Amino acid sequence: MRQDHIISAKHLSREDIEAVLDRASTIADDPAAYSQRHAGSLLGLMFYEPSTRTKMSFSAAMKRLGGDIVDMGPVEYSSVQKGESLADTVRVVEGYADALVLRHPSEGSAKMAGEFVDIPLINAGDGAGQHPTQTLLDLYTIRENAGLDDLTIGIMGDLKYGRTVHSMAYALTNFETSQHFISPESLKLPRNVRYDLHEAGSSIKEHTELEAILPSLDVLYVTRIQKERFPDENEYREVAGEYQIDTDTLEAASDDLTVMHPLPRVDEIAHDVDKTDHAKYFQQAHNGVPVRMALLDLLLGGDQ
Ligand code: CP
Repeated sequence: MRQDHIISAKHLSREDIEAVLDRASTIADDPAAYSQRHAGSLLGLMFYEPSTRTKMSFSAAMKRLGGDIVDMGPVEYSSVQKGESLADTVRVVEGYADALVLRHPSEGSAKMAGEFVDIPLINAGDGAGQHPTQTLLDLYTIRENAGLDDLTIGIMGDLKYGRTVHSMAYALTNFETSQHFISPESLKLPRNVRYDLHEAGSSIKEHTELEAILPSLDVLYVTRIQKERFPDENEYREVAGEYQIDTDTLEAASDDLTVMHPLPRVDEIAHDVDKTDHAKYFQQAHNGVPVRMALLDLLLGGDQ
């Protein structure tokens, strides 16, 4: 990889993405060949916000590479409670680990923290900003199911606060994709993201309804309304429950449509969709392990 830190999908080239995805495929085909690859290495986990998938799959990935983790644990039991700054904390934890994974509620926090450490720092979600490793596993899943070029993708839900959406939109500019964004007016893509996509020459279209666009989609990427990011709960209530899909909705879709979701879901995808061939969101979550193994292997110099 050209980079030491993984902060934003905006900085991932097609070459970077394919290096991770190809390595993940190799690992998935023969995990035993990688089981001692990073024996003795330690991954520092610093999660200032809740997580199930990202935290556990990074832990599993490091352990399946023969390494181990050091976990800051719940933020309420850390010295953050005594007033320690993020900059000080990462400088301390740098001395305990070979790479760091950081999730934090503030947009821009990972970029700032990365300026204080020399070991690789991976952004595992910074507020409503970016979640680049989610995008890598999403792209891996798309590549397995639909291919990454000549792709028509619909990204639906909370496009304003959804960091997985922002990362995905940037990463897809490396491929021949047609991106359709479906959301209420109040949850459209942020202006800065739209500007960046325009600058990258990306073809994007915005919609408030799924119906007209659904039949042409290869992939429908559904997202949760990010309740925890709304400054006013009334604003959340105005849009909660919109943009739900079920098997009736999908009758208008192509038989080959791949339905994805970064999870956790609340009520955006009805449970009756789970048993259809469209549903790939649990496979997507499981892909977090080989993809994060691949990323860690490349960042920790597995080829040297
Ligand atoms: N998709 C995702 O980031 O899930 P977690 O919040 O559980 O890590």
